[in-house]
Amino acid sequence: MTALTALPAWQDMLAQAGRLKSIDLRAAFAADPARAERYSLAACGMLLDYSKNRIDDAGLASLFALARATGVEARRAALLGGEKINATEGRAVLHTALRAERSAVVEVDGENVVPEVHAVLDRMAAFADGVRSGGWKGHDGRAITDVVNIGIGGSDLGPFMACEALRDYGASNLRMHFVSTVDGWQLASVLERLDPATTLFIVASKTFTTQETLTNARAARAWLVAAAGSEAAVARHFVAVSTNAEAVSAFGIDLANMFGFWNWVGGRYSLWSAIGLPILLYIGPDHFRALQAGARAMDRHFAEAPLERNLPVILALLGIWYINGMGAATQLISPYNQPLHRLPAYLQQLDMESNGKSVRLDGARCDYHTGPVIWGEPGINGQHAYYQLLHQGTELVPIDFIAALGNPRSPAEHHTILLANFLAQTEALMRGKNEAEVRAELAGQGIKGEALEALVPHKVFDGNRPTNTLLLDALDPATLGSLIALYEHKVFVQGAVWGVNSYDQWGVELGKQLARTIEAELRGDAPVTRHDASTNRLIEYARKALKR
Ligand code: F6P
Repeated sequence: MTALTALPAWQDMLAQAGRLKSIDLRAAFAADPARAERYSLAACGMLLDYSKNRIDDAGLASLFALARATGVEARRAALLGGEKINATEGRAVLHTALRAERSAVVEVDGENVVPEVHAVLDRMAAFADGVRSGGWKGHDGRAITDVVNIGIGGSDLGPFMACEALRDYGASNLRMHFVSTVDGWQLASVLERLDPATTLFIVASKTFTTQETLTNARAARAWLVAAAGSEAAVARHFVAVSTNAEAVSAFGIDLANMFGFWNWVGGRYSLWSAIGLPILLYIGPDHFRALQAGARAMDRHFAEAPLERNLPVILALLGIWYINGMGAATQLISPYNQPLHRLPAYLQQLDMESNGKSVRLDGARCDYHTGPVIWGEPGINGQHAYYQLLHQGTELVPIDFIAALGNPRSPAEHHTILLANFLAQTEALMRGKNEAEVRAELAGQGIKGEALEALVPHKVFDGNRPTNTLLLDALDPATLGSLIALYEHKVFVQGAVWGVNSYDQWGVELGKQLARTIEAELRGDAPVTRHDASTNRLIEYARKALKR
């Protein structure tokens, strides 16, 4: 047994989950007219209705008791206080300091980091003003029209997601592009549409050693220099975002064109730092500040609200309820607003790279499940693709339904249909359709006898499928900031209960190491023998194609 599974609070939570696994939610709503109100919470520009979950007061109480027994509150204080809670890397975890007010004090090793955070933000804002106004010129004196962010993982997903989500706030004179994969097809398909003289590249890499990013950055630079006819053009068309000034310099980017951040910013938590430069360029400094203010509001809510009225804590504990108490292996993120189409991908990294762990901070192996598989797509597309499984399949899939009420670019005709579907799905998943209802429906259609009986089991919906409904007042910078921070803190709370380090990512290393060996073998001619038979054979097979 680990320190977690030995806890009476853990055993109690499991017992409560066992009791509520087959709750009849329809009956629970009928018996308690106040259920929706009691299990709803509004804060930071959003309403969370979590009443369509398999919960009751005693079940929830067991979850809050578990959070207390696992020291979530003390760990939250350690996180926000700048303690080195990323123990395996000896680092503080301070994305919250990136959005702290100018007057705040957040210390790392006895030093207040807030002034340097704001110094970089101010430089970013000044740079963005120049690019947005056309004052920053390309090498031939023309203004920038296209910005290409070259980065991967946290150096891509957050900025890409936020720029898409906030398109209604974007500069009309700037087109944003994101290149992440080392599949050269992506870079080529972006560059073929661009004029080098009006293109700005942001090379975004915390470490500035990431192979995919540096390979793309070198190719982009060669493309620019070939077109401009001079290396001097690089200074007008390349900026870097990194913690590694030495490597930026070695790459040939003037440090005057570098925006720095710090090792206490995790890649997947970095969009608030200089990694957010594409967002700031696109939506402008004021809207970027609003994005940060929204996150700060959620930070305050997370820090101050009692656990029982705390949005990230509630979302986190409900996740644990299904993963550990009811055997769910995945979590669907179902945003209905099209601009949120990259949110599931963003949350995949945030959650899976953070809590995809099987060893506890104390070094013991987890004897319980941790982070779920996060997946998703805009929900309305999902309805016409995989929702069949959600309604009638054998898997239990908890779902976060997310929609913004305000949607100025979508005509009322469209938006009403969108919201009707959004609301209908959570109702359908909760209430289902029982045999008696199916029989009555079929009979009403004139079907009877054997034909009716044969159809009944196929048309039954079990219901009791759990959902959270998150209604955003609007999809604006502040609410998006709150939404992102909500999930950051949710992931934190789950990691704290599970006792894992949510802030390292050793699991990405082995593949990178092996790729270096295989790359050399693909380029070489010697027989490949050092791997297993499958890998040896596949390398030689692929090598033949590469050499053709
Ligand atoms: O390989 C995983 C990872 O290290 C992520 O954690 C990170 O966000 C991404 O690669 C990119 O890293 P970098 O910003 O250092 O290029």
